[in-house]
This record gives sequence, structure tokens and C-alpha cells, in this order.
Amino acid sequence: MKSVGGLEAVVASLLAALDPPAVVVTAAAGARRGGCLVTFSTQCSMAPFRFLVCLSTANATFGVAQAAAALAVNLPPRHDRALLELFGARTGDDVDKLDQVGWRAWEDGTPLLDGCGWFVGPVVSRHDVGDHVAMVLEPVAASPAAAAAPRLADVRHIRPGHSV
Ligand SMILES: Cc1cc2nc3c(=O)[nH]c(=O)nc-3n(C[C@H](O)[C@H](O)[C@H](O)COP(=O)(O)O)c2cc1C
Repeated sequence: MKSVGGLEAVVASLLAALDPPAVVVTAAAGARRGGCLVTFSTQCSMAPFRFLVCLSTANATFGVAQAAAALAVNLPPRHDRALLELFGARTGDDVDKLDQVGWRAWEDGTPLLDGCGWFVGPVVSRHDVGDHVAMVLEPVAASPAAAAAPRLADVRHIRPGHSV
């Protein structure tokens, strides 16, 4: 097989062309809370209805999410650059991002971001998939989004707060 620019670069460009959704995954565990921008996510089962998010083991959010019973997937308005940059370019190692935005706690404390569509539910399994851990959640509560959600093309200019 011949590839231009190397296998990884070609696959990466094919995947980027799919323009996957960009979401903000939030979690709380005891007094700890966090959240980060995620583009590795997808529905992964119909019955039971389940959704998968992949979190980098380097991220501050990862430690919280590993200890959390539940996760929330927040769909911000695609024009909310400030929110996308906060969760994608800043790290919870340095700042409490949730101090800088409006949010409320779901019944177990999981943060739900103001102005976003969201769904929340318990983590039913976790899988080591490389430098990320895939976490599968089963939505038990949700709220619709009032505006179109962002995609990778809207956030790819952001420099991640943590290198993987
Ligand atoms: C375009 C883009 C896509 C990203 N996708 C993911 C992802 O799928 N999973 C992940 O764990 N981090 C992803 N990140 C990285 C985190 O959002 C980023 O490093 C963040 O600052 C981590 O914050 P934290 O340390 O508070 O968790 C992405 C960042 C960008 C800019």
C-alpha cells in the first residue's frame, strides 16, 4: 500500500475530514471536579443505550473521571469560543475551570454547564485503549441543546492544555 505523508498522517487527515463532534466532558468525585474538551466520542450501543468518551491519561479531568461514578457530556453552542477555549486550552492542574463558567450540579454532583445541551449517567465500564481510557456511560437524564454544537473544524485551532 502506498501512502503520501505516512500512514498516520493520511489516517489522521481522513478522520479529520469526518469532522467529529466536539463536546465538553465534566465529572466530579468528592470535592474534586473537572472537565475538558473531547473529540474522541461516540454512541456505542443502542440497547442498552450507551455512549463512549475517551479521556487522555495526561489530563486533570482523567483523574476526576476515574474516581467519578458518573460523567456528563455537555454540548456547547458552536459559537461559544470562550467556553471551548477554556475547556480545551486550559488545564485543571492550573485553574478551576468551573469557577469561570456557570453550572449546576446534577444530583450526584456532576457539573452540568449553563447554556449547553447535556446528558449525564453512570460510567458502566472503562477500557484502556492506549494513551486514552474509553469510558462508557449510560445516559439517565438529558437536556436538549438550544444551538448547533461544535465540531472538530470549530476547535482544531485550539492548543490543548495538556499534551497527550
Ligand atoms: C481539538 C481538540 C480535541 C481534543 N480531544 C480530546 C479528547 O478526545 N480526549 C481528551 O482527553 N482530551 C482531548 N483534548 C485535550 C484536552 O481538552 C485539553 O488538553 C485540556 O486542556 C485538558 O484539560 P484538563 O487537564 O483540565 O483535563 C482535545 C483538545 C483539543 C484542542
